[in-house]
Amino acid sequence: MSTQSVKRNIFQRILGLCATRIPADPGCWRYDGGDIVLDLSRVPQLNRPGGAVRLEGRGLPHRLVVCRGMDNAIHVFVNRCGHAGRRVDPTSDGATMQCCSVGKSTYALNGEVIAGPARNGLRKCPVREDKGKLYIGFPKKKGEQP
Ligand code: FES
Repeated sequence: MSTQSVKRNIFQRILGLCATRIPADPGCWRYDGGDIVLDLSRVPQLNRPGGAVRLEGRGLPHRLVVCRGMDNAIHVFVNRCGHAGRRVDPTSDGATMQCCSVGKSTYALNGEVIAGPARNGLRKCPVREDKGKLYIGFPKKKGEQP
């Protein structure tokens, strides 16, 4: 498991400024109330492990972080630390996710907390890849049927 720390200075950590950016190409994803559809050919950040983008706004019920993991799979999480709700970033090797705040809660790619003050893990979103598109669903609430 990675012991890396995402490079953030103390001011960035105090202010909770994450390293992951929104996509440079705003047309790379769409959401109309069902699954989010992300065109992977328009998101070069996801070509390498540790690369990531944030998806926010446009009516999304949750802000999300999409990353290429060390396992070369794409992982999508609700972008909300289980401690106090700050955003998270992938470590540069794509092995773990880490909160951008001073507490640096760190999570495995399955969302489990592995370090830091967070009590709750990251919520993972179901994903499906087909013909260069990534289809992203939202995690079910407790008690909700799949
Ligand atoms: S909000 Fe993430 S560690 Fe505190």
